[in-house]
Amino acid sequence: MKQQILADTAAAKTPEQVEQVRIKYLGRKGLVTNFAKNADFGKFSPEEKKNFGQELNALKIFAAEKIQEAAERAAAADSVQTNKHRQADLSVPATGNYKRSGSAHPIAHIQAELETIFEGMGFCVLDSPECETEYGNFESVNIPADHPARDMQDTFWLQNEMVLRTHTSANQVRALKRFGAPFRGIFPGRCFRYESIDPSHENTFFQCEGLMVDKGISVANLIGVMKTLLGEIFKREVKVRLRPGFFPFVEPGFELDLNCLFCGGKGCATCGDGWMELIPCGLVHPNVLHNAGIDPNEYSGFAFGVGLTRLAMMNFGIRDIRYFNSGDVRVLEQFRPLV
Ligand code: PHE
Repeated sequence: MKQQILADTAAAKTPEQVEQVRIKYLGRKGLVTNFAKNADFGKFSPEEKKNFGQELNALKIFAAEKIQEAAERAAAADSVQTNKHRQADLSVPATGNYKRSGSAHPIAHIQAELETIFEGMGFCVLDSPECETEYGNFESVNIPADHPARDMQDTFWLQNEMVLRTHTSANQVRALKRFGAPFRGIFPGRCFRYESIDPSHENTFFQCEGLMVDKGISVANLIGVMKTLLGEIFKREVKVRLRPGFFPFVEPGFELDLNCLFCGGKGCATCGDGWMELIPCGLVHPNVLHNAGIDPNEYSGFAFGVGLTRLAMMNFGIRDIRYFNSGDVRVLEQFRPLV
């Protein structure tokens, strides 16, 4: 009987087959249940009855155990089988710990917006190295070693005599050498200066350089592009003014001020006199064109350097520059992912 039970339970693969085996042995008319009746129990001696009873109990337990094991095997196989056919529905919203998704850094948002605006005006977008040669960062843009302008951009020097770039202007000559004139491009990226850090100063910040070189480019083109840019960013018509500003790589050089968006130019706590200093810019210095192998008598151009970090602070109302590099998730998770 035990052999038979082992064979039958091994052969039973589905829950239904196991149930048939259970009925066959342990059911109301089952072979084990009725074993005593079938064995002519009445004719046994008392000694035989005692042994038989013990054996029969052991057999019942044996049968029940084997059937239970077979039932568990069949149930496990059954759920594997069912899951194989069950397709995961990826559109079901995640629950539990999976709710948090990433977001894009505020700088990435501003940069993406600028790239779209400038691409719309036919500018290309160039990536560029964060380490520069001394020539790239300074000399190529008309800042010789003994020039006082170097003091304005005190910075980090590497042991191999390269420098963490102090401005994205370092790419003006690189881009013009590579693509020649006419040229329209922007170079957004991380810049570094030796600063002591406070709510409005960081040693690591972002700029976006812009450069346009063609025949007959004048200050009028510069103002037109700047007004388009600011109008698109702040979603309204803006007023700007130019003040003289000095940068060795532009001539004439300007500080472009934006008519204050908060007070409309009357003067307030944010702007002071109604204007906000926003974008340093100017016409490309003939020496820079010359360094790039472009004839300044044939071509002219404008360049500007947008402070991306500054723009992000204005745009998102971020009052402390230190949040940008803090990596603080409570700050970062307030922004959307980039789409
Ligand atoms: N590179 C300058 C700075 O970082 C900004 C600038 C760019 C000025 C282009 C004029 C033209 O201060």
